[in-house]
Amino acid sequence: MATPKKSTRRTIDRSRLQALMSREEEKFVTERPLSAALYARAQKSLLGGVPMNWMKKWAGKFPVFVAEAHGAHFQDVDGHDYVDLCLGDTGAMTGHSPSPAATAIARQVNHGITLMLPTEDAARVGEELTRRFGLPYWQFTLTATDANRFAIRIAREITQRQKILVFNYCYHGTVDETYISLHNGVPGPRRGNIGPPINPVETTRVVEFNDLAALERELAHSDVACILAEPVLTNVGIVHPEPGYWEKAAALARKFGTLLIIDETHTICTGPGGYTRAHGLKPDLFVIGKPIASGVPAATYGCTGDVAQKPRAASSWKIATLAESEALSQATRFR
Ligand SMILES: Cc1ncc(COP(=O)(O)O)c(C=O)c1O
Repeated sequence: MATPKKSTRRTIDRSRLQALMSREEEKFVTERPLSAALYARAQKSLLGGVPMNWMKKWAGKFPVFVAEAHGAHFQDVDGHDYVDLCLGDTGAMTGHSPSPAATAIARQVNHGITLMLPTEDAARVGEELTRRFGLPYWQFTLTATDANRFAIRIAREITQRQKILVFNYCYHGTVDETYISLHNGVPGPRRGNIGPPINPVETTRVVEFNDLAALERELAHSDVACILAEPVLTNVGIVHPEPGYWEKAAALARKFGTLLIIDETHTICTGPGGYTRAHGLKPDLFVIGKPIASGVPAATYGCTGDVAQKPRAASSWKIATLAESEALSQATRFR
C-alpha cells in the first residue's frame, strides 16, 4: 500500500497576520490625525459620527473625511489622494464634478434653486429622456427610491392589485415592499431590515432571478400589480439575465396582466440609453436615479403612452399631486 503523500499546503501564520493587521491599523490612524479629530467631533452632532450610518462600514478605525473630489479621485482632509472605487454606486458614477455639469449647476444656482413651478429646462430634459429611453412621459423625484415608490403606486392603481414582485436580494432603495428574501425557498423579511411596517409577504412575491418557472408560478396568482426589477441584478454581485430571459419574462408579465418596471439606476452604465435601449427591453414604467444629475440628488420615472392613458393612471397622477400638496401644507404650517 502506497504511503500517503505529505501535504505541501502551508498553514497561515495567524499571529503574523494579526501583527500585520495591527501595524496597518496603527499606520492608518497616525497618518490621518485630522480625520480622527473630525470623527471625534462629529460624534456629538451626528448619529454614529457620520451623516449616513453605512459610512461607518469603513475598514479602518474611522472613515476618512473628504476635502475634495474630482474625476475618479478624492483627497482626504489629511492630504492623501485616493482612487474612488465607490463611484459606480453613487450619483458620481460619471466622475466627481464633471466640468460641463459643474458649470451648468453653478450658473443655475444664481437663478433659483427650487421652485413649485416648471421651467423650460424641465421640458427640455423630458424630451431628452424620451430620446434616450424611448418612453414618452416623465416625472421627477429626488431619489430613485421615491421614483420606484411612485411607479409602484401607479401600477397598483392601474391594475387594482395589491402585490408587487421582486427578485431575491434585489435592491431598489428603501422601498419597504422590497425588503423580502427567500430563506430555503420560503419568503420572509430580509435579514437586518430595521423597523419593517409589516411582514413583506403581505405585499410582495419574491423569486430567484432567471427562474422563469418560479416567475410564472407567482404571476399566475393574478394579484401582482408589477414586477420591479433591475435588468441585471447589481446589488448582489452582478447577475446577468440568461439569454432570452427578459423576452420571456416580459411575455409572462403581459400574459398575467402585470406591469413591468425597469430600474436602471445602476445599469445605466450599459450606455446612454441604459440596458433597456441596448437590449430592446419594453418596460411599462422606467426608473432611473443617482448619476442622472452628476451627483445632485435627482431621479425620474417614465411611462408608456398606454400607461399614461389608462383611465386609472390619471387618478394616479392626481394621487401624486395630492401627496405633494399635503407636504406643502405641512411645510407652510411650520413656517
Ligand atoms: C437599483 C437601485 N435602485 C434604487 C436605488 C436607490 O437610490 P436612492 O438612494 O437615490 O434612493 C439604488 C441605490 O443604490 C439602486 O442600486
